[in-house]
Amino acid sequence: MSQVVTSDSSVPHGSWAMVTGSTSGIGRETALRLSDDGYSIVVCGRDRDRAAETRKLIESAGGRAVDLVADLNDPAAAHDLVAETRKAINGGTLDVLVNNAGGGGFARTEDTTDEMFDTVFNLNVKAPYVLTGAFAPAMAERGRGAIVNVGSLSTTMAAAGTSAFQAAKAALSMLTKSWTAEYGPRGVRVNSVDPGYILTPINEHMRDMYQGYLASVPAGRGGRPEEVAEAIRFLVSPGASYIQGAVLTVDGGKNAVVAM
Ligand SMILES: NC(=O)c1ccc[n+]([C@@H]2O[C@H](COP(=O)([O-])OP(=O)(O)OC[C@H]3O[C@@H](n4cnc5c(N)ncnc54)[C@H](OP(=O)(O)O)[C@@H]3O)[C@@H](O)[C@H]2O)c1
Repeated sequence: MSQVVTSDSSVPHGSWAMVTGSTSGIGRETALRLSDDGYSIVVCGRDRDRAAETRKLIESAGGRAVDLVADLNDPAAAHDLVAETRKAINGGTLDVLVNNAGGGGFARTEDTTDEMFDTVFNLNVKAPYVLTGAFAPAMAERGRGAIVNVGSLSTTMAAAGTSAFQAAKAALSMLTKSWTAEYGPRGVRVNSVDPGYILTPINEHMRDMYQGYLASVPAGRGGRPEEVAEAIRFLVSPGASYIQGAVLTVDGGKNAVVAM
């Protein structure tokens, strides 16, 4: 039997997309675009007001969203988020998961405490692991789904002072491949988007630190959150139907060129 589709896209009726970290930056821009494409959106982050703000932006553009709050530094909160999401979407199907919430771990190795290390891995690796383990099997049973992990340029390129963050993003990058092996044969496409320096609140306080970096970016500037969101939107879309286990780097060419 053919699927019921919304009038303006191939998104099945009652289809939900969860975007973690959609209270800000790349996640918010992604949530708005996936809503435009016809998904109902599970918005989540730590900040209750900004979560409601994203939901209202979606609703005022004619979309549907629920906003949930979870601090994913705590693994128990990731499990709670799964339960709250199932309740909130009320029988709808979660067909898209964007593991975007991330960050932390900016310290030299000798200054990184056990607690900082665990927090960085909880947020950037364990939360995506818990969410994917909860939602991917049902996607696989339905034979359709898309997962996008938001990594970082530092998955493949190192810089001093962010070793725990880099290790966590590298682990997440491997999970894109592991989950492609596990769920890809059953219709779930899993991919990564690796942003370079993007102007969002996460690094506003570090603008000065990035002057040398920016001077070596072929595009000649930092990226905008919507430029990363468009890459995520593409990987979720039917246009990416044969793309699995891939990394789409959105960095203005930084990874391709050696600074001379
Ligand atoms: N901006 C860049 O240059 C850059 C470069 C490479 C990779 N990235 C990656 O891109 C992703 C999005 O970052 P962004 O640049 O859009 O930053 P952002 O604007 O600061 O947004 C980060 C989002 O993650 C959420 N988040 C952070 N810690 C969380 C926690 N403990 N529990 C739940 N949610 C949490 C935030 O929620 P609240 O604000 O509500 O707490 C916010 O919605 C991250 O994974 C980041 O590592 C960004």
